[in-house]
Amino acid sequence: MPTTSPLPHPIITIDGPAGAGKSTLSRTLAETIGFTYIDTGAMFRALALAAQQAHIPWDDESQLAALLPSVHLQFHHTHGQRRIFLNHQDVEDAIRTPEIGIGASAVSVHPSVRTFLLVQQRHLALQGPSVLEGRDTGTVVFPNAPLKFYLDASAHERALRRLRQLGPNSSTSLKEIQQQIEARDRADTQRTHAPLRCPQDALRIDTSSLSPQQVLQQMLDATYARFPSLPKVPPPPLHELH
Ligand code: DC
Repeated sequence: MPTTSPLPHPIITIDGPAGAGKSTLSRTLAETIGFTYIDTGAMFRALALAAQQAHIPWDDESQLAALLPSVHLQFHHTHGQRRIFLNHQDVEDAIRTPEIGIGASAVSVHPSVRTFLLVQQRHLALQGPSVLEGRDTGTVVFPNAPLKFYLDASAHERALRRLRQLGPNSSTSLKEIQQQIEARDRADTQRTHAPLRCPQDALRIDTSSLSPQQVLQQMLDATYARFPSLPKVPPPPLHELH
């Protein structure tokens, strides 16, 4: 297990609740500094999809555990995008539904699922300099990462961002979205295994009243301070957080 041994190369972890801007910022940070981006939430989502395809309920840990050996997850670059493959099938779009988001949260409570994905997350990150994004990457996956971020935002602000993403034709109200976000927060912070919490040594950034560009700049400043040999490149323009 690499958690206490020195890491062979730089690893950055980014944790936080749903909707705090983790995805956009993690991906953009990784692209800007030339690190591999590892979206651990996508792995939980793909597993929830695998269970659904096999007609296994998300709360049935013994059936899920039996399914795990047949689950093969990979990230590939297609048309400049990093996409997740489940058993050699591109499922990047299929895992991005609200239903699979609920499934990912449900399967993530099971220790066997977490252990299975933990091994793969560490293996992927040990291939080269990486940015890992998720709920426990700085607390459990790489507690010895040299740089950790925790991105947060109020539930109201996160609901507003989600509503903007859904567009003017959305049938879901702001109140409903905020309630869904609060329910997901409760599930993620109150589970027994690897609950969402801010690592003690993380740089916590509340993104509620900051522009995406300001958050990215804070993250880049911290990254260049921690890894001074990284070549400094101008940050790309960032307009939306999701
Ligand atoms: O970041 P996301 O919405 O794609 O994550 C979906 C769910 O997966 C989230 O509600 C909890 C779970 N998850 C987790 O438990 N640990 C992680 N490192 C990443 C995601």
